[in-house]
Amino acid sequence: MNETRGYHSGLVDLASGLISREIFVNDEIYAQEQERVFARSWLFVGHESQIPNPGDFFASRMGEESVILCRDRAGAVHVFLNSCRHRGMKVCRYDDGNTTVFTCPYHGWSYGTDGALAGVPFFREAYHSELDRSKYGLIEVAQLCCYKGTVWACWDASAPPFLEHLGEFSRFLDLILDGWDGREGQAELLGGVQKWIIPCNWKWPAENFSGDTYHNISHRSVDLVGAGPSGRSRRDYGELSVARRLHVAIPDRGHQTITYMLPRDHQPQAAYQNSPEVAEYFRHCEEERRRRPGANSRLIGAPGEIFPNVALLPRQPRTLAVWHPVSAHQTEVWRFFFVDRDAPRVVKNFLRDYYIRYSGPAGMTEQDDMENWNYAHSASRGVIARRYPYTYEMGMGHAVENYEWEGLRMPGRVVDLTKAMASEEPMRNLYRRWAQFMAADSWDELATWRTHEAKAAE
Ligand code: FES
Ligand code: FE
Repeated sequence: MNETRGYHSGLVDLASGLISREIFVNDEIYAQEQERVFARSWLFVGHESQIPNPGDFFASRMGEESVILCRDRAGAVHVFLNSCRHRGMKVCRYDDGNTTVFTCPYHGWSYGTDGALAGVPFFREAYHSELDRSKYGLIEVAQLCCYKGTVWACWDASAPPFLEHLGEFSRFLDLILDGWDGREGQAELLGGVQKWIIPCNWKWPAENFSGDTYHNISHRSVDLVGAGPSGRSRRDYGELSVARRLHVAIPDRGHQTITYMLPRDHQPQAAYQNSPEVAEYFRHCEEERRRRPGANSRLIGAPGEIFPNVALLPRQPRTLAVWHPVSAHQTEVWRFFFVDRDAPRVVKNFLRDYYIRYSGPAGMTEQDDMENWNYAHSASRGVIARRYPYTYEMGMGHAVENYEWEGLRMPGRVVDLTKAMASEEPMRNLYRRWAQFMAADSWDELATWRTHEAKAAE
């Protein structure tokens, strides 16, 4: 038994619903996370609409490390570690752009957009033509997957393919990536990526977006101000009065979300009413969506989390966020905003205003959340505070499998929030997977891991 097994039964104790504060504030645990979670997981690196042409690149991150998402001259997509093979200098110091070659600023080695080492200064004179340049191309990820425009990458060749990792959770990601009218993969990025640093561990936002339906008190002022598109509340969710509100958690994946299921005979409701052109666009899209077989026409997306560090919010505003770890006590947030590629300009402009008002460093709702995470983190770091675990006992044992309503089945373990109001099932699902990653020595073990509860029931 290796020493990290203790994380499963000790620091993350799902039998009692208690989780040690150490997993948030301990520097050693943070360092082990980089190896055990981030170096082995599928991570989001960007969107193909950021690199439409050969030679286009976007400097992204995987965990703590800088990577280059780039399209080579033949049109193939790559993700490289942004570190020269000679002494490790960053070979790309721009956020994005177009190039034929990445030239290292230190000694001048240059790499093609396919990662090959193309040029070494004084190759003949200083190296006597003896350096095997084929061995020193940029370090490339072990696996890459382009899914409906999004690009995901993994450093571990033994990890299962991305779509297997995503599993049945794909339908929730699709709510962002498909067009509002249900056509596949019609989303594009709206504007640039918002980036900012928050003084807390990355798991604070990951846990919150997993489905914290308990913290609405935090957003009372935004609700009163009416930041939503209609000028009321935070969002236009007219359908919610007839929808089933659920927590859905995919066991052994660590993905979880809030979602709303609409009744079978539900008719589309108006949204964005204060802008007739925008309202008409969405009304038309909703009608089209309903006509399209297989489209997620009875689901409304809400905050969720793809393990380990990608949050989705498919609707109002429609965004993905990545919680990049910087240290145990600091996280760099990158927020990507999405819009239908074919939407009229007036719709894109309207949504841009709303998205910025809601999310990001200046967004009225996100500010509330950050204040909670930042103060909770710092108040948990002290010697005394660290002795006391957090409780995740809410609703233990009350999730069900094979949940079905009016002919629509939900995957995973489900809590009907229409009755329960809130539960901590999603957080337990997140930390169960986190503990499995921290304890498992191989992907074989991770792929076949039985949950604590399942083992106990045997
Ligand atoms: Fe890149 Fe020396 S560090 S050429
Ligand atoms: Fe919130």
